Amino acid sequence: MEGPDGSGKTTQIDLLKKYLENRGFDIVIAREPGGTEIGEAIRKIILNRDYQEMSHMTELLLYASARAQLVNQVIRPALEEGKAVICDRFVESSAVYQGIGRGLGVETVYEVNGYALGDVAPKLTIFMDLDAETGLKRKKHQTKLDRMELEDLTFHKRVVEGYRQLAQLYPERIFPVDATLPIEEIHSMITSEVEKRFFQK
Ligand code: TMP
Repeated sequence: MEGPDGSGKTTQIDLLKKYLENRGFDIVIAREPGGTEIGEAIRKIILNRDYQEMSHMTELLLYASARAQLVNQVIRPALEEGKAVICDRFVESSAVYQGIGRGLGVETVYEVNGYALGDVAPKLTIFMDLDAETGLKRKKHQTKLDRMELEDLTFHKRVVEGYRQLAQLYPERIFPVDATLPIEEIHSMITSEVEKRFFQK
């Protein structure tokens, strides 16, 4: 599940989890960066507002390190046990935030993340499409902003544009949803896509 901050990913993940459980699946939820003890420790470093001097490459590698731990400790074992995994953010977040937002290049991001992912790849990426202003406004009410959220509006606009570009380039793996629609409507769009892709064959 991908999208800018404040786009409603968590709500949709909870609904999708219940839906798939009712369909008989064992579901594992993983969030990024984090989802493991080591990953959560890395998350604290990445999002710490005091670390303004962090270089873009350090940031990319830290996200990839947290991801490598998550893949090896949680995702691959779950898949091997026949479970389904829903990830709150994954490699496409690095493609847009570090590749496009920070300007490191999408190819570099995929290359570095190849080491973290190995043979694990998402079967479907759902992109909650919301413009940057609305997302940030929703966030500001909730929490103290972290190092990424503190970035200016132009950065967050690049991120959203990046998601839109990737969704256009790779329609076979990225499914965009209008995140301004009512929660239930989004949920049913997501479940029909999941049905279409995984169960109607
Ligand atoms: P979260 O607020 O969804 O937990 O994500 C933390 C922040 O990290 C969010 O602003 C997006 C950013 N992020 C990246 O920049 N690159 C990544 O690879 C991931 C997973 C998240």
